[in-house]
Amino acid sequence: MTTHVPPPAVQSPAAAFAARYRATTIPPVDLWSPVLDRVFAHATVRNYLPDPLPDGTLEVLVGAAQSAASSSNLQLWSVIAVEDPARRARLAALAGNQQHIAVAPLILLFVADLSRAARVATRHGRPQEGLDYLDTFLVGALDAALAAQNAVLAAESLGLGTVYIGALRNRITEVAAELKLPSHVAPVFGLVVGRPDPQKPAGIKPRLPQSAVLHRETYGADGEAEAIAAYDEQFHAFQNEQGLPRQDWSSVLAARIASAAFLNGRERLADALRAFGFALK
Ligand SMILES: Cc1cc2nc3c(=O)[nH]c(=O)nc-3n(C[C@H](O)[C@H](O)[C@H](O)COP(=O)(O)O)c2cc1C
Repeated sequence: MTTHVPPPAVQSPAAAFAARYRATTIPPVDLWSPVLDRVFAHATVRNYLPDPLPDGTLEVLVGAAQSAASSSNLQLWSVIAVEDPARRARLAALAGNQQHIAVAPLILLFVADLSRAARVATRHGRPQEGLDYLDTFLVGALDAALAAQNAVLAAESLGLGTVYIGALRNRITEVAAELKLPSHVAPVFGLVVGRPDPQKPAGIKPRLPQSAVLHRETYGADGEAEAIAAYDEQFHAFQNEQGLPRQDWSSVLAARIASAAFLNGRERLADALRAFGFALK
């Protein structure tokens, strides 16, 4: 397999925390590893070269994905690798014209897959009542997400870029038809994989301060408003550096949940899933 030089990692806990949180006070962390360098350096890539991926990339990424934990090892997920440019173009259109899907050479469609379990049960002559419950769908979606994130980390360690495509759920029925998904299989999201365009590097997007996310022993929201106000400022700086419009993170969040219209078709997801055979009891 062709090897890649991964993008420079941040290489120390202080640098990693500073990059991820833009914090002036860094926790006194002595624990560190090369994997943590990679994890803290994550950045979604939306600008790609059209170049093919090195031989073996797909197999390595799927192996990494399958190395993730799986609820009871039931492995209720599958992945469809789409390389065909015409199909990628159709998927790009279904995802709101996200051009990175058409440009990068590969999109992996992670699906919650109860159909394999149904086939196994049929071969064993057993009923399949358990497939009808919301929790079983959730297990498939969770397994798919955990697998995908392992693939993301693997890709980034090889110097490749990725972007999740949740927007494929906007028109999930057409996506399922495009992929010829059988009953009891539902797209969870896509994952574009490609070589990042070095002319348009992605930046590390800051995250909420840990004080807004980490609750010790019991939940508490004291100090949250101040933490989020500080984060809005850091978010402005990031947007500015990336040449993106000035936005408050908190205003974006509030707008996104203000109306079902922002779900862009996903407000009908439960109906679509039932049509796919998930009873979601
Ligand atoms: C489940 C999921 C779906 C996403 N869907 C999209 C998408 O459709 N298009 C896109 O450009 N980014 C998408 N993203 C990427 C997020 O916007 C991105 O992860 C977030 O802004 C944080 O930025 P970062 O990954 O660079 O840290 C998605 C991320 C996740 C986890």
